Amino acid sequence: MRKPIIAGNWKMNKDINETETLINTLLPLVADATAEVVFCPTYLGLQKAVEMTKNSNVGIGAQNMHFEKNGAFTGEISGEMLVAIGVKYVIIGHSERRQYFNETDEAVNKKTIKALSLGLIPIVCCGETLEERETGQAEAKVVAQMEAGLKNIDDVSKVVVAYEPIWAIGTGKTASKDQADEACGWVRTIIGKMYGEDAANNVRIQYGGSVNPGNVKELMAMKNIDGALVGGVSIKASFSEIVKF
Ligand code: G3P
Repeated sequence: MRKPIIAGNWKMNKDINETETLINTLLPLVADATAEVVFCPTYLGLQKAVEMTKNSNVGIGAQNMHFEKNGAFTGEISGEMLVAIGVKYVIIGHSERRQYFNETDEAVNKKTIKALSLGLIPIVCCGETLEERETGQAEAKVVAQMEAGLKNIDDVSKVVVAYEPIWAIGTGKTASKDQADEACGWVRTIIGKMYGEDAANNVRIQYGGSVNPGNVKELMAMKNIDGALVGGVSIKASFSEIVKF
């Protein structure tokens, strides 16, 4: 049985005071969640978020990390630094990082391996552009991202994958439940080819892209979908409806 996992990616939203306010609002509302719940505030909010959620059902995740421990990498934060403040999850290879910060599959792979070695749960993102979907290349893109991003991993069952079609992110245009399930199936199949069927059956795969309280139920009912990575709604009180799907 795969425990559903629903994570809120706050992106570059909420300063430290707003982070505190939002956590105070959300914590009691998500206390009876059906899913494992993760909040991913900005780096600046992480320490406060860990303190505030200490005795709760919510885990805290970062939105990125560097794969080196320390050194001359201006502006970066290492996995070790995240672990030191009690962060438990880390989003890796979000399409916005790939698009705006030139994050490559190779970096995604290094970060994923490093996160696992530190005991962090990586939420590894993949997904195709609208053009790739319309030209029939969606499956090839997702499979290639997974082959490169998830290679040489010791225990892939600890990885969470987030399938997020880029055309559905922040657009209000959700993939249909069948499209989302099919793509999460591509992910499970390639993981099965790489690491065997048992491992593939244990990996949790989230769908992300305009998830809201109105569509979460039907998405979560699909056989390959084990959770959601939520953007826009994750910084609203209605996120609590999503985690209770
Ligand atoms: O990582 C979550 C994400 O990119 C989806 O964003 O706003 O479409 O839920 P949104």
